[in-house]
Amino acid sequence: MKDCDIVVGVTGGIAAYKSAALCSQLVKTGARVHVILTRAAAKFITPLTFQSITKQPVAVDIFDESDPSVIRHIHLADLADVFVVAPATADIIAKAAWGLADDMLSTTLLATTAPVVFAPAMNVHMFAHPAVQENIARLRARGCVFVDPGEGPLACGYTGKGRLAEPDEIAGVVEAVLGRRRDMAGMRLLVTAGATREPFDPVRVLSNRSTGKMGYAVAEAARDRGAEVMLVAGPGELPPPGGIRVLRVETALEMLDAVLENLPDCDVLVKAAAVSDYRPATVHTSKVKKTDGPVVVEFVRNPDILMEVARRRRADQVIIGFAAETDDVEKNARDKMEYKNLDYIVANDVSMPGAGFGTDTNVVTIYGRDGTARALPPMSKREVADCLLDVVVRARGGVKQES
Ligand code: CTP
Repeated sequence: MKDCDIVVGVTGGIAAYKSAALCSQLVKTGARVHVILTRAAAKFITPLTFQSITKQPVAVDIFDESDPSVIRHIHLADLADVFVVAPATADIIAKAAWGLADDMLSTTLLATTAPVVFAPAMNVHMFAHPAVQENIARLRARGCVFVDPGEGPLACGYTGKGRLAEPDEIAGVVEAVLGRRRDMAGMRLLVTAGATREPFDPVRVLSNRSTGKMGYAVAEAARDRGAEVMLVAGPGELPPPGGIRVLRVETALEMLDAVLENLPDCDVLVKAAAVSDYRPATVHTSKVKKTDGPVVVEFVRNPDILMEVARRRRADQVIIGFAAETDDVEKNARDKMEYKNLDYIVANDVSMPGAGFGTDTNVVTIYGRDGTARALPPMSKREVADCLLDVVVRARGGVKQES
């Protein structure tokens, strides 16, 4: 972490003393550590402790602008290569989740574009409270990383999950997050997301339940790691992510054209879209009126976009498909990887709770052509995206190690 700027936010909990050890550990790696204390944190531990450890000024009051050449919270927000909040109380997690900015730490957090790591510490019931869990899920979905609290006796007298993770563990996560920063610079990613929509008449369509969240998460994570990203997106509610070129498509045939046109210019294709395998054989120009009897609609096969890609791909490109399955997940996924000539396939048992369409979380295994299998625990789609991109970086000859 030599020469990195790490901003450490300390909030008001008994575990605040542990963050002095964390800062000391980060300083030893050669990083410059800039501490922000909330007013509550300063009741537990003094700014002088952190100033002595880090040899940097410590910020508490947002109106304390002792250096007239900078606006302090913006300066720290811009300076940060990574932002760590340890311990993170329920209060700062809520503020960050909802964009509140009423003191030095929350305002700097809102102003930073650096990756943010939260290490929560609080009473076991507070941590388990749905409000806290929902705020954590919200931040995870946005790309923030959490170092889960440990279990054990808590200062409040309870025993359970709520103890701040050990400084070693937090420092390890900070190092991993820093390693991801800009590790995809120069890489060009083409990502497809969402469902396709196949018209039957001006009113009706054939489609599926995909919302595009997984593909969007991959596109955003790659952008944040420095890649140049183009997103080919089916119709959906998700707002276009900033800093990403978005090509909107409706049907599988339009998606095929968009993918093939942009394939030569990409290093990596992530095909997260749920493409409709069939389309109505006839598209009526007027609304089809109902009749008393049953209706038979003829469907014709759409081209398989990945099969077309397989015919045209270069050997130096990394091609990743997804497999939405309900049965025999591994076999079906590996078969798909084989016949679609993919390098990796992300297999997704869509019948499992917390996996599949419309959820913010996913449960996947990433299978590789090289025989590897990486089963990931349930995590946010954004975290799945980062794990997948770790695999991409490795495949492209990067230095990342799978954990
Ligand atoms: N896919 C594609 N073109 C299609 C159908 C699927 O490119 N016409 C891609 C998807 O984007 C995904 C992968 O193929 O990356 C697997 O999609 P999936 O729906 O799981 O499988 P299918 O190939 O459609 O097979 P089946 O429906 O029989 O499971």
